[in-house]
Order: sequence, then C-alpha cells, then structure tokens
Amino acid sequence: MDLVIKNGTIVTAAESYQADIGVNGETIALIGRDLSGDEVIDAQGMFVMPGGIDPHTHMELPFMGSVSADDFRTGTIAAACGGTTTIIDFAIQGEGQTLREALDIWLERAEGKASIDYGMHVAIGAMDDERMIEMGDMVDIGVPSFKVFMAYKGLFMVDDETLFRSLIRAKEIGGMISVHAENGDVLNYLINKHVAEGKKEPIWHALSHPPEAEAEATHRAVVMAGMTGAPLYVVHMTCAGALEALKAGRAKGFKVYGETCPQYLMFSMEKYEEPDFEGAKYVMSPPLREKGNPEALWKGLASGDLQTVGTDHCPFNFVGQKDMGKDDFSKIPNGMPAVETRLPLIYHFGVNEGRFSINRFVELVATGPARLFGLLPRKGTIVIGADADLVIWDPDKEFQLTRENLHMNVDYSPYEDVTVKGYPAMVLLRGKVIVNDNEFVGEVGAGQFLKRNPIHL
Ligand code: URP
Ligand code: ZN
Ligand code: ZN
Repeated sequence: MDLVIKNGTIVTAAESYQADIGVNGETIALIGRDLSGDEVIDAQGMFVMPGGIDPHTHMELPFMGSVSADDFRTGTIAAACGGTTTIIDFAIQGEGQTLREALDIWLERAEGKASIDYGMHVAIGAMDDERMIEMGDMVDIGVPSFKVFMAYKGLFMVDDETLFRSLIRAKEIGGMISVHAENGDVLNYLINKHVAEGKKEPIWHALSHPPEAEAEATHRAVVMAGMTGAPLYVVHMTCAGALEALKAGRAKGFKVYGETCPQYLMFSMEKYEEPDFEGAKYVMSPPLREKGNPEALWKGLASGDLQTVGTDHCPFNFVGQKDMGKDDFSKIPNGMPAVETRLPLIYHFGVNEGRFSINRFVELVATGPARLFGLLPRKGTIVIGADADLVIWDPDKEFQLTRENLHMNVDYSPYEDVTVKGYPAMVLLRGKVIVNDNEFVGEVGAGQFLKRNPIHL
C-alpha cells in the first residue's frame, strides 16, 4: 500500500465501523484491520468520511452587473478546507450560444485553477430543436444534468415550454433537470412595484420574493416532471410550502428530489432588518424566510423528504459589490459565501444537536449528491476502487467561522459569531493530502473535470 489511514472510524451513508483504509495511487485499494503501508496517517479518535460533494456552486459567475468573488482557484481551496473534494458548477448558456460553447467557457475558467475535482451542469437559456439534440451530446461527454431558471426575468428565466421540452429530452437521454423554482413573473411585478413605491431597503427583497411564488413554481415543475416521467431536482429549497409540493409529487411516485442550503437552515428573514445595510449580506434568491421554515427544512432532511444539502455558493463582497444596491435592493447582487462552511454547519447543527445521525450527514453532503448526479461509485462513498477522496474529521475540534479563519475570497463571514464542534483535521483528494489543519497543502490546478454517468433514477 502507498498509504494507510489507521485506527479511524469509517463513516459512510450506510454504516460506521472501525477499520484501516489502504490507498494505492489515487484509489482505495483495501479496507481492513492491521494494514501496513509506505506512509501512515493515524486517525485515532477521528471519523474517516468520503469527501463532501457540493452539487451547487457558482465560481466566477458574471451576474447582476458583477462577478461572484471566488474564482475556481480560491473557491476550490476554500471548499477543500471545509471538507469538500468535488463541486458541480453551472455553465450558463448565453444569448445565441450553443450548450457546448457555454460549457467550454466554464471549463476554461476551471482548468488549471481548480484544486479539487469538478463537474458541470449546463443551464439552458433556449431550447430549440438543435439544442434538444445537443442535450444528448452533453450526456455523452459527461454532463448529464441541466438547469432551468424559472426566475430572473430578462436574465436567465425561461418559459414553461422550454422547461417542458427539457424534461422530455432529459427523460430520453439519461439526463436530469434542476430548477430554480420561483415564479419569475410574479417576482418581476413585485420588484418593480416596490421599487416604484420607493421601498428599496434589503427587507423588500424578501417581500418581493414571497414563499407562495416558490411553492407555486415548485408545484408546477413537479407536475411537469410527473407528466414527462423525467427526474427533477429542485435546488435551494427554502420553505414549507415548496417542501409540501415536492412531497406530494414523491407520494405520487414522481422522481422529484430536493436540495436545501445551510443559509436557509441557519437564518430567518429578520436578518434583512439589520442596521447599516448589513441585511444585504443575506440577499439571495430565494430569500431567507419567516421563522418556522428552517425547522421544517431540518425535518425534511432528517425524514428523507429532502435529499441533499448544497450551498449555492455565490459570494459578493460587502464593499464594492453588495453596496451596488445601497439605494435599491434590486441592484444588490444575489448570493452568499457558503462552500467552506457547509460540512461543519450541517455536522454541528444536524449531528451534534441530535437532528440526525452521522450516517445521514454523510448521505446529505456526499453520497446523496453522488447518487443523484452520476458520480457513484467513484465519488461520495468509501469502497474499494473509489477515488481516495477522504475527510479525516475531528469531532472534538472547536472552530469559529470568522472571516479570518476561512479561505473564501470575500470580505465577510455570515457566521462570524458561530463556533462549531467538529471540523476537518485532514482532507485527501485522490490519495494526496490537500488540507492539513485548515491549511491548503495541495496543488492549485490539480482538480480534474469529472465525466459523470447518465442519470437513471
Ligand atoms: O441568490 C442566488 N441564489 N444567487 C445565485 C444564483 C442562483 O439563483 O442560484
Ligand atoms: Zn437559483
Ligand atoms: Zn445557484
């Protein structure tokens, strides 16, 4: 064996047990007792888990007159330090572009900069007959998931026919459609009305994005998934009403799956009323919701009604970016830094606080995303033959999520006063240590593009 990780407790989505892991080259070669190897990592007292998979990031996304502050270099280093070894980002089809052209732009951004492995979804801007054919080509080159925005009118939003056609095609080719589910026409009306009435503080962002608009769009997408038989993944779910729509679809046997993000579990919409424009730090779409919704989401994660925790990592600096909307909430770039803090927050507030087991935690942050997005068994679990993407997790390490302790390229932490217990001690990517005690020691650009499998759920 090139490397043996000894004395740890292996934790997968299915079980926890004591064993050593033997790594040869980039993959797990053996799991058993008393293994020996050229190099040894002692994981006594630690959990050894599969590296996290974040299925929802936006590195260097050009958006709302700015560009998200993490590029593939800084964003993937931050992800690694928080225990994530794979991200799936979004290439977004621009006006007049083919899907391939959009994908190539994003692949160029990532290549040579990503320090962890990465896949791509393609977000569909238009769905003519040629693009429908092209969706099949995407699956063939390892991009089997597509995003449709039901919101951001005049920017990313597409109509219902485009969504319906995308679902039909996805079903034929082994693809899956993700949706940003909010009723973009309703939002557009409310945003314009509130701005015209001079209601321009950050709270009006939330009041222009009501939960009913999310629940309605989720219901609409779920019904279309049922009509077409295609799998559907609803990203960044925030509220009980949307969750009910998803549950109703699953109860009918539709292949519909849901993601939420730490920010929707941690905060409620009071944040928007913080003084000195601080509320802008939490402006994202959908917005934070009224109290009660976060607990409904936690319950959904525990019960299996929700399948994953992603991040929707899309950071903008408070100074120089968020403040573009100082006088008008509709100009605040939407999004939050999140890729680094996902595992620690979900472990601390999920496992330590008794909401679910450590195995469910692994399912939500690693195995579930791998299963849904065509990465199993290479990523997301600990089996012989899998990539040796491993997090050696110290359950006793206390860590404050301040700006100074984190690596994301943004001038604030939304969790400045939060201390979690449980943090990565070490992170390995394909058999190489890339993080040691919160320090990135890997190689910039060593991340590989992942050709994912077709999705048949
Ligand atoms: O506010 C958000 N969520 N920004 C990123 C783009 C998106 O909607 O996912
Ligand atoms: Zn979105
Ligand atoms: Zn997003």
